[in-house]
Amino acid sequence: MFDIRERDGLARIGHFKTAHGTVETPTLLPVINPNIMTITPAEMREAFGIRMLITNSYIIWKSADLRDRALNEGVHSLINFDGAIMTDSGTFQSYVYGSEGVKPQEIVEFQRDIGVDVGTILDVFSLPDDSHEKVRDDMLVTIERAKESTKIKGDMMLAGTIQGSVFPDLRRECAEKMSSMNLDFHPVGGVVPLMESYRYADLVDAVMNSKMGLDPSRPTHLFGAGHPMIFPMAALMGMDFFDSSSYVKYARDGRLMFRDGTKHLKDLKEMPCTCPICSKYTPEELGAMPEEDRVKAIAMHNLYVSFAELRRVKQAIREGSLWELVEGRARSHPALLDALRHLERYREYMEKYEPASRPGSVFYTGRETLNRPLFYRYASRLNERYSPPVESMILMNARRKPYFTDSAVQAAVYEGKHPIIMSMFGPVPYELDEMYPIAQSVGPEEFDEFERDWQKKLLDEFLAASGINLEGKAGPKASEDYLDRIRLSAILDMQFGGGASGILKGKLEVVRSKNTGKIRNVILDGKHILSMRAGDGMFTLKMEGGRLLHSALTRPKMRVVVNADSAEYNIQGFNVFPRFVVSADPELRPGDECLVVTEKDELVATGRLAMPVRDIPYFKSGIAVRVREGVKGKSEGN
Ligand code: GUN
Ligand code: ZN
Repeated sequence: MFDIRERDGLARIGHFKTAHGTVETPTLLPVINPNIMTITPAEMREAFGIRMLITNSYIIWKSADLRDRALNEGVHSLINFDGAIMTDSGTFQSYVYGSEGVKPQEIVEFQRDIGVDVGTILDVFSLPDDSHEKVRDDMLVTIERAKESTKIKGDMMLAGTIQGSVFPDLRRECAEKMSSMNLDFHPVGGVVPLMESYRYADLVDAVMNSKMGLDPSRPTHLFGAGHPMIFPMAALMGMDFFDSSSYVKYARDGRLMFRDGTKHLKDLKEMPCTCPICSKYTPEELGAMPEEDRVKAIAMHNLYVSFAELRRVKQAIREGSLWELVEGRARSHPALLDALRHLERYREYMEKYEPASRPGSVFYTGRETLNRPLFYRYASRLNERYSPPVESMILMNARRKPYFTDSAVQAAVYEGKHPIIMSMFGPVPYELDEMYPIAQSVGPEEFDEFERDWQKKLLDEFLAASGINLEGKAGPKASEDYLDRIRLSAILDMQFGGGASGILKGKLEVVRSKNTGKIRNVILDGKHILSMRAGDGMFTLKMEGGRLLHSALTRPKMRVVVNADSAEYNIQGFNVFPRFVVSADPELRPGDECLVVTEKDELVATGRLAMPVRDIPYFKSGIAVRVREGVKGKSEGN
């Protein structure tokens, strides 16, 4: 029903299947008011290619005329749209205008009966200033209503809204309870007042805690979020759908949305936008239009800008650069900067979703970059996994990357010294210079005082953890064999942990690329055990390497445990599907090389983890491990 096609951390590109077509996410569901259609669904499909929209079942239900028509001809005919239709339940109307008694079950049955694709429960909207006790009571009512609603949903997909206001524990509890029910879709609700008052740090807590409690295989939705400003940040936190009537509400007030904020038409002397509306009209001409035409034109602009930003987000997810996009956008509004800074609190969780490596360069855009999961991972792995081959190192600057190509660094190495280079990631022992993310990153030449202090702190932590001194004593003159060994050892330890470098006992041969001189293949006692990828400087496991790591590392390290039904296929080289996975090493990250084993820890295959470990138990479709080689063979295409 919801297939994940691409991931970038928590963000994903998904295909959501409905009875009225498949919708690609992240996307915006424009709100249609069945009474007043400023832009019709047909016009939206024509201009923006929308395949799904949202309307309000309560508004339809309340009007005798609309209700009869909807029940007779169905909601798709009522609003003349043959794509997927989601409806809201009237929760928000009772919050804004006071409740006007529709019963929770009645409105769900009504949505079902008018042929809605995704209906919504009548959740209870808590306010940001409500007490914990009040919010918990409301939340429990919402849960109870969700439970009752699942019994009557019929063929309709049902959205169970996560409430809990700004309280992390309640958001999580609500999300966990909803995840255990037969629901299909999860809006994060109660966030409109937070967005309206620019309380973005609270928004981050609400969204992240909801997400952390949710079944990750289900689509998520940020209820009432329709300003393009929030899209990159919300996608980064794992939100798949957005909806809003803001495009038209703002237009009625003469306000234009931009990806970095909102401007009133009367304050615009120029049109800072490339959409067809802004390309055609000056602010003056727009202002002189008859009101109805102007509202429509501005609403069109608002949607053009919104869909353009969504495409930008999708492109970033596909290329693995969503963090960079979010950081860039955070420069344009302090509320977004607040959100980004606040997200730091969740870096440990987000790190579990961060891929082992990604194509393209990591860009450093400012000090907030220091809190990215990737940076946090490098520093913690250096302290936990790296095992220094010497006691004394020399702190150096390198003017080139990879650092070993810098002549001063190279000269020091050949004198028997061990250079350590200060970088934006903190200290880097020179032999890690080709490994992701060190070589695959671009940062400024100049760091400010805060950044230098940060790097110094990382250096101090490294020195304390490793017992290294910086006296720069020279050891014996280094042989090529020694240099290869320390390089391979450092990468093995950083990539796999657990002292993986212990496998390098025996006669070592290194095959280098003729063009670049970089290590390609590692041969131990005549057996090809590892290949090194040119892109990220990390190892690909050959079966012999897998065998060595399997005996050197204790359970559960590097393991993905599969049941017997699966093992039979994986051993021949076929991929591992998530529903056959019994358990997996919690230290594995998406894209990591891994060992596929049986419950008795017999090695059946080597491969690459294709989804985050936390997600595996939830997914019925997709691939958990892309098998590279089975003990008894390779499958086609792997
Ligand atoms: N629209 C905006 N916020 C909400 C919410 O919390 N619940 C529902 N049902 N609709 C909304
Ligand atoms: Zn425009």
